[in-house]
Amino acid sequence: MSDDVKPSAAIKEHRPSEVIYQVYPASFADSDGDGHGDIRGITAKLDYIKSLNVDAVWVSPFYLSPPGPEGDGGYAVTDHKAIDPRFGTLDDFKELLKEAHGRGLRIYTDFVLPHTAGDHEWFEKSRRREEPFKDYYVWHDGSIYNGHKAPPNNWKSVFGGEAWTFDPVRRQYYLHHFLKSQPALNLNNEKVQEAVVDEMKFWLDMGVDGFRIDSLPYANHDPEFRHNPWMFGQWPDVREAWDQQFFEYSICQPQTVKLVARIRKLMDGYDRKKTTLGEAIAGKEGGKNALPVASTYVHRHEGLDTCYSDVSYGIAQSSGQGYLKDLIKRIEDHFPDGGHCNSLGNHDNPRTMTRVAGHLPQDQREAAYRQIAMLFLCLPGSLCVYQGEELGLPQARIPEDIPLDRLQDPVAQTIGIDRCRDGARTPMPWRAGAKNSGFTRADKAYLPVPHEHDARAVDRQESDPRSTLRFMREALAWRAAQPALLKGHTVVLDTKDPVLAFLRRCEGQVVLCAFNLSPHAVTFTPSEALDDDLLRAAGLQKGQALSLDGYGFISSGDKKPVPVAAPLPNLGGAPKPAPG
Ligand code: NOJ
Repeated sequence: MSDDVKPSAAIKEHRPSEVIYQVYPASFADSDGDGHGDIRGITAKLDYIKSLNVDAVWVSPFYLSPPGPEGDGGYAVTDHKAIDPRFGTLDDFKELLKEAHGRGLRIYTDFVLPHTAGDHEWFEKSRRREEPFKDYYVWHDGSIYNGHKAPPNNWKSVFGGEAWTFDPVRRQYYLHHFLKSQPALNLNNEKVQEAVVDEMKFWLDMGVDGFRIDSLPYANHDPEFRHNPWMFGQWPDVREAWDQQFFEYSICQPQTVKLVARIRKLMDGYDRKKTTLGEAIAGKEGGKNALPVASTYVHRHEGLDTCYSDVSYGIAQSSGQGYLKDLIKRIEDHFPDGGHCNSLGNHDNPRTMTRVAGHLPQDQREAAYRQIAMLFLCLPGSLCVYQGEELGLPQARIPEDIPLDRLQDPVAQTIGIDRCRDGARTPMPWRAGAKNSGFTRADKAYLPVPHEHDARAVDRQESDPRSTLRFMREALAWRAAQPALLKGHTVVLDTKDPVLAFLRRCEGQVVLCAFNLSPHAVTFTPSEALDDDLLRAAGLQKGQALSLDGYGFISSGDKKPVPVAAPLPNLGGAPKPAPG
């Protein structure tokens, strides 16, 4: 029996988990025919979202924001309380809330905490040293190097170059962890914390059910502005990149835990439950290994409900059984009470289909994708499902699907096309063969719809019982009916390659989840890795061998038929070009 299995261990139940569907409004659905997705478009698709068997919808930013690359897709906010006319009006948003609540769906808006846009009123006043805004941002006189004016220290921007820009109006440097058009708020300052909490209240009072909080590790900085340690050299003699520093001082500061507690207090003041989903994808080691940082923000009574980290992006069959086993144990160790959130795709990362299966022969891709989707559904914690992942959309290619002159993401210009995120942000294909696959009636959509996506359009998958969409819908319903998947703790089994297996266990249910990470059929005998009590609790018998197809998944969950990652769907052969 495995050392990992401790049959006598008390059953620890995790906090309840959720499935959250992420909508990127610019590319979800266009209701007014301007080629750009909008809030009314989301409202019109609520029945579809509800049919996926998710609990909540996280809507990426729709606030007033500079047009073009400076707006960072809405993550540079000009006014937290105003809606960008491209997305609609406040009344449209109230309608969305009402309609979502009527369907039992919760709405989480995206709160961009650590920075604003450069044209935000606060920044305009701060650079003119007007009170009370003078210290709302992080200002510094800079340093002198070789007789010349230089930035205060070696902090780098995630989006390339120094994290400091000299402002000719105030004649000081300001900090920006992302674009120059995203000045960092000085959240070390109590007054700024109050101002930000006040912006949150505006939405909560309106009936929003919670927030996805953007870039949490960037909220606070070292008040002494010390240099970050370099991995390979010493500033300023080296010009290394953002991910070649240890973030001792620029980000991941302990003060953020207190700020989070303050936000939690605000949320707890409401009668109706308000939820917080943090984003913490940057850890101290060159931005990697964010799990320990993320876990400091999540606490049953004082912290966030849940937080996503960078670990989901490493989940693939090719990572191997040992890596995945270790990863699941790390999630469980850092979040013993639950609260980690996994991401089946998002707007910042390549589409899961391409990431996990793009390198495989065509006839294996679908099964490999479905298996990884099932793994995400079975992992401890909540789950975000990004729009289009339920369709198994592959990443749009640049320049084949998105010509260079149509790119929107500023990152294409600042750090390069290979890091550009537009390939995961193309419009949702709603109707196969229609203009822009039914996303907009305009001739030109915000980003082009890849031809390959047309063949995977929603209407085509709805009518095919073997489609990825139908599979995902059934799988999510199955997950919702397994208490052990919703709140059980995890026991990883000591299996051999290519089988990955673990138990999810709560009071009254034990579910075995087993995955064959290879393309070839294998058998697996759970009793070789499990003690008799747990074996019985999982509804299995001694010596019983389970067969797993190539990239197969099997589970002992008992409330509903278990979806298995086969057979392959019929998605209609070769992709057809989408007109328009
Ligand atoms: C994280 C968001 O998800 C990303 O899209 C954005 O560019 C950065 N934060 C900066 O706000």
